[in-house]
Amino acid sequence: MKTRALIVAFLILSAIPCAVSGQDDLISNPFDRPSKSLNGEWRYIVDPYENGYFNYRYEPFDGSPDPGSSAYYTNAKPKDKTDRVEYDFEKSDIIRVPGDWNSQKEKLFYYEGTIWYEKSFDYPKAANGNRVFLYFGAVNYKAEVYVNGKKVGTHIGGFTPFNFEVTGLLKEKRNFVVVKADNKRLKEGVPTLNTDWWNYGGITRDVNLIEMPSVFIRDQMVRLDGDNDGRITGRIVLDGASVSGKWVEISIPELGFRGSAITDEKGVAEIRGSVKGLRYWSPDDPKLYEVRFSSEGDSVTDRIGFRTVKVSGDRILLNGKDIFLKGISIHEENPLRGGRANSVDDAKLLLGWAKELGCNFVRLAHYPHNENMVRLADEMGILVWEEIPVYWTIQWENPETFDNASAQLEDVITRDKNRASVIIWSMANETPVSEPRNRFLTKLAETARRSDPTRLISAALEMSGSPEDATVREITDPFAEKVDIISFNQYIGWYDGLPEKLATIKWRLPKGKPIFISEFGAGARFGLHGAQDERWTEEFQEVLYKETLKSISGIGNLRGFSPWILVDFRSPRRHLPEIQDGWNRKGLLSEKGEKKKAFFVLRDFYRQKSEQRRNR
Ligand code: GCU
Repeated sequence: MKTRALIVAFLILSAIPCAVSGQDDLISNPFDRPSKSLNGEWRYIVDPYENGYFNYRYEPFDGSPDPGSSAYYTNAKPKDKTDRVEYDFEKSDIIRVPGDWNSQKEKLFYYEGTIWYEKSFDYPKAANGNRVFLYFGAVNYKAEVYVNGKKVGTHIGGFTPFNFEVTGLLKEKRNFVVVKADNKRLKEGVPTLNTDWWNYGGITRDVNLIEMPSVFIRDQMVRLDGDNDGRITGRIVLDGASVSGKWVEISIPELGFRGSAITDEKGVAEIRGSVKGLRYWSPDDPKLYEVRFSSEGDSVTDRIGFRTVKVSGDRILLNGKDIFLKGISIHEENPLRGGRANSVDDAKLLLGWAKELGCNFVRLAHYPHNENMVRLADEMGILVWEEIPVYWTIQWENPETFDNASAQLEDVITRDKNRASVIIWSMANETPVSEPRNRFLTKLAETARRSDPTRLISAALEMSGSPEDATVREITDPFAEKVDIISFNQYIGWYDGLPEKLATIKWRLPKGKPIFISEFGAGARFGLHGAQDERWTEEFQEVLYKETLKSISGIGNLRGFSPWILVDFRSPRRHLPEIQDGWNRKGLLSEKGEKKKAFFVLRDFYRQKSEQRRNR
């Protein structure tokens, strides 16, 4: 007999700050919306000199009253046989969207610069009063978007979604969208010039036209409000001409929950209530409920899990119980096909390997992965660490760099805040300590806590040696004060001595907070065998894992780790012929999906961990 929850709703009007990014506020759940996909074959023009964007005096055509046919985004055709137009999308080569250009076109493997994309499409007249939005899952790195020759907006950041309203710009026949995608690395960028991953460029994720009612639900959230007592809190944000004083409702049919409220002057309403008989989401039981968010003219559903995650002293509690994060780090790359991962099948491949390893946790490095990864993690019961590419030597004193990082963080929170699997927002990876960097990261952490007070904050810090004792490793990074979980990368045995050094290490780590080791590992070429002190052999990697697991098991407040890395991945920094050949070889699997010996070391360790937990 299902417990019929009392329908309790308090009308609480509260203006909640909403993440703002790009040209239009981000639509937070396009998955369930009726949409016209623009995925498929696009035309493209490689334009290293940005000839389609600047005139010969290097003045942008953008914004000029009459850009003339030279601006590629006008998609111009010669008026007659005398007319001069020096490009033609229709006769240009075809490229697949979604998909980076590097792995699709041999000649673009190393290309960094501008590529123009064009897609022609028909669009039946929008239903009366409806609005139409052009939604991109991601474009790396900078996108300038035009519809029927009109600029609709610009977006910076290669791994977060964005959308532009195109209502009124569309015709029933022969529309065209032109995207100027530019993946040039920039010193002021996020990430900056130097990374250890391939700079895949282009429209790397789905593109959709989403039709919405004139007043629609742009943002919605529902979660447990506190500990495991069934208290629910939700929020709905309306977008449109008249959004205040509107009735909105959240319902969870399986729990008999319905809560309603009236929006405030900003179109925001918060709904609270309680349910009984809730099955909490967890790796052992990844229970998802259908949740419907409704307003007077719109409704959207999502499949949402309910759980709590918190730090208590030096423990991590999921639904009030201790949890050890049996993790692995993952880059967003499908090595079998090559290039950026973006599909459900890609997510199944990568998370399937993680599951085979015995993981209950993945660190999605070093940037927000596509939404399929976190939605599948919800379904599979895999906890997730998400991070933004504040990586290595960012321009800490550049306000635009901070705004860029902050927008990327707010956008991934807007997109994924209803994903039970996501428990950690990470602010940075291996950033050198300095006052400007501490201020930058502290402000970022404040942004994260303001946007999402329910998840844990961390960052992959670097450890230090001790001047008195060469065998001591410690964390002296002041940012450790600001995070909920103290995470750090360590490469003792690979960058710091050899594997036998691990037996000598004394860990002098902070007490009172959970410790998480966000990276350790060694390179090995699959199939290369030899003595365990022979670098690049599987035996070397295997003994490093064995020695590391022995050494870190002595850290009393260690609550998990995510070794580097699940699969070999492409990197422009890895040149050793016959061993690396442009691949970072620290994967536990090769780029062909072949399991190295260290894969089984970690898998067996995680199995023992699970056994111990069951026998407790
Ligand atoms: C660093 C960094 C990774 C890099 C790895 C390596 O810790 O975080 O992005 O790939 O080391 O050197 O392989």
